Amino acid sequence: MSGGLDNAYSIASPADCLRVYRDWAESYDAGFAAGMDYLLPAHVARAFLAAGGTGPVLDVGAGTGLLAERLVGMGFGGVIDGVDLSPEMLGRAREKAIYRDLVQADVTAPLALAGGYAGIVSSGTFTHGHVGPEALPHILALARRGAQVAISVNTGVFAAQGFAAVLEALPIEGLQLIEVEIYGQAARSMDPAHAGDHALVALFRKA
Ligand SMILES: C[S@@+](CC[C@H](N)C(=O)[O-])C[C@H]1O[C@@H](n2cnc3c(N)ncnc32)[C@H](O)[C@@H]1O
Repeated sequence: MSGGLDNAYSIASPADCLRVYRDWAESYDAGFAAGMDYLLPAHVARAFLAAGGTGPVLDVGAGTGLLAERLVGMGFGGVIDGVDLSPEMLGRAREKAIYRDLVQADVTAPLALAGGYAGIVSSGTFTHGHVGPEALPHILALARRGAQVAISVNTGVFAAQGFAAVLEALPIEGLQLIEVEIYGQAARSMDPAHAGDHALVALFRKA
């Protein structure tokens, strides 16, 4: 499995991303997420709901839909939309029939979505080789005033890519950074190199 994460972490362009996730989409849930005991979507869902998050929600880098599954599993009954670059990952999410709308788009550029979201969530998308803090203003533009945001950022990129400075400059309030383990026990045998990886769940409201 280290091939999967190593491939994903070394993505260097949108074309790379499309190729990696085209090949990973089919085995992502049963292979990667189950095999690694992938905890991050549940951490983000729990933080969002504990902060009083409501719908409609936009899931940024929705992938195969694991975060929406966790939200629904924790009792969330609101509308969830998703955006992702990979059509194959979105195809897997669509099969789960949880999302209202799923849109293929690059979140590092301004997004042609209607907006007005009361919640923004994201797990596993702000990480090595993926999406950096430059996407945050585009995403926040889709949120209504007072919207609750819960976004995971891999600790390995938080400082290196300057997330703190971008967050500080955004019109947000109540920022909390909650450190969580990305994977559970099973990851120790499957991929010892990444088993101990951590993320920060950035929790804040749009001012
Ligand atoms: C590690 S997966 C996480 C998927 C899901 N949120 C989860 O936790 O399982 C990262 C996702 O980010 C998406 N992604 C990467 N770069 C992107 C970009 N620039 N715009 C939109 N989605 C992107 C990938 O296609 C992939 O589905």
